[in-house]
Amino acid sequence: MLRQFSLNLNNFNLAKKLTILLLIIFLGGITFSGIALAQILNYKAQDEISSNAWLLFRTINSIRSYTNEEVTPELEKRLTNNEFAAQTIPSYSSRRIFEKLRNDNDVYKDFFYKEAMLNPTNLRDKADSYETEVIQNFRKDKNLKVLSGYRSFDGEQFYYISRPLAITESSCLRCHSTPEAAPKNMIQIYGTEHGFGWKLNLINGVQIVSIPASQVLQKAHQSFALVMGIVTLIFAIAIYMANFWLKRYVVRPIKRVVRVAEAVSTGDMDAEFQKEANDEIGSLVEAFTRMKISLVMAIRSFERYRRGN
Ligand code: HEC
Repeated sequence: MLRQFSLNLNNFNLAKKLTILLLIIFLGGITFSGIALAQILNYKAQDEISSNAWLLFRTINSIRSYTNEEVTPELEKRLTNNEFAAQTIPSYSSRRIFEKLRNDNDVYKDFFYKEAMLNPTNLRDKADSYETEVIQNFRKDKNLKVLSGYRSFDGEQFYYISRPLAITESSCLRCHSTPEAAPKNMIQIYGTEHGFGWKLNLINGVQIVSIPASQVLQKAHQSFALVMGIVTLIFAIAIYMANFWLKRYVVRPIKRVVRVAEAVSTGDMDAEFQKEANDEIGSLVEAFTRMKISLVMAIRSFERYRRGN
């Protein structure tokens, strides 16, 4: 096939040969660099998305532990057994701070945080079918500490990070085991139907942070299209310029030499080769000029010889 190709190539003129060579280089170059660029941009986009998600996740967990370690003990001292203040609940404080972050800054308006439970105290925290599946996965594999990936909501792509939630302190059971044990004020707000019967160390929910990925991925696609467009444009200009130079400095001078050589070959000894540049074509012109002089001298001496006879 390669031989066939090079045979076909021999039938093309110089400009075509050069264009084909440049096109092969271009296609090879754009394929390899395109693959590499796509990989790099994709990696960078994924990295940006996941580090944003992790930052939010870690911040929320710091709020949770701050509430648990400092706010709850302080507030509980001031409450009677039946009194209840939502501010003592880590889940409440992290949720409230996240809501403030979202409402005050437009950039976070599509970010989501949820403590999704199979049997939540606040029905807003009820796990949807996808989250239920994540919870089941954590239950199946106790060694699994984090699950992350992409999911779509309303046609938008989101990246999520999730961690299992289980009650590890018996103090939590006061409000999450039976309605009788919980503060009366809490029951008045949340009722007795849900949020109870949680067991120590049993995974009954997940903390899940979801951040929009479409925009970042779209930006990566745009950068890819832009770079590929620029490379294509540069190559198109390069091919055009190479052809232009080839025509101007090689093809046209050679054609002129051919025209004069044809005139000389049909007996027009006045036709002159003209040297225009000090390059290889210039040397060719000089060689032809010398050949023509020799030819003229040869013809003259031949004619003298004929006349002499
Ligand atoms: C004083 C009662 C009380 C105690 C103690 C308590 N919680 Fe809660 N918990 C609640 C209430 C009330 C909510 C609902 C808050 C809301 O409306 O956001 C809640 C919500 C949660 C949620 C969010 C999901 C849901 O059910 O709505 C998780 C997770 C949770 N608690 C875990 C714990 C853990 C872990 C502890 C122990 C460190 C604990 N709770 C201690 C009362 C309590």
